[in-house]
Amino acid sequence: MPTYTLNINGNDHTVTVQDGNMPLLWVLRDIVGLTGTKYGCGIEVCGACSVMVNGQRELSCDFDVSSAVGKRIVTIEGLSADRSHPAQQAWIENQVPQCGYCQSGMLVTVAAAMNAGHHGNQIASELRNLCVCGTYQRIKQAIQKL
Ligand code: FES
Ligand code: FES
Repeated sequence: MPTYTLNINGNDHTVTVQDGNMPLLWVLRDIVGLTGTKYGCGIEVCGACSVMVNGQRELSCDFDVSSAVGKRIVTIEGLSADRSHPAQQAWIENQVPQCGYCQSGMLVTVAAAMNAGHHGNQIASELRNLCVCGTYQRIKQAIQKL
């Protein structure tokens, strides 16, 4: 079984997996124990599994663990140490989450868009993540300030 060293939220983690095609999502959740990243659809539709790889948003349900070696992976746990990321602050101010299941993926997706230099309405118009609870209105409000 292959062993890889992954840089996740600034720390190196050495993991042994069944094969290099294992989705990064399973490695994060089941091996490293970072359960903030969620499994929704498993088919690249919902965005619940969003993480950043070298600053860009990737869907970890369809990202091979072997492809993550040598790259900087950031999960919701690594967005900030104290919820101080501007997107997290906007989410708190606007009381965005309902059940919360989709929100890790939402926040990571928005943070990646901010990394790319996008703001406000531009981010809102790009956001395709799904929220079963229908928090879209509050998400739009929160994004206005970013
Ligand atoms: S679980 Fe990856 S896009 Fe839905
Ligand atoms: S807050 Fe429940 S799925 Fe989005």
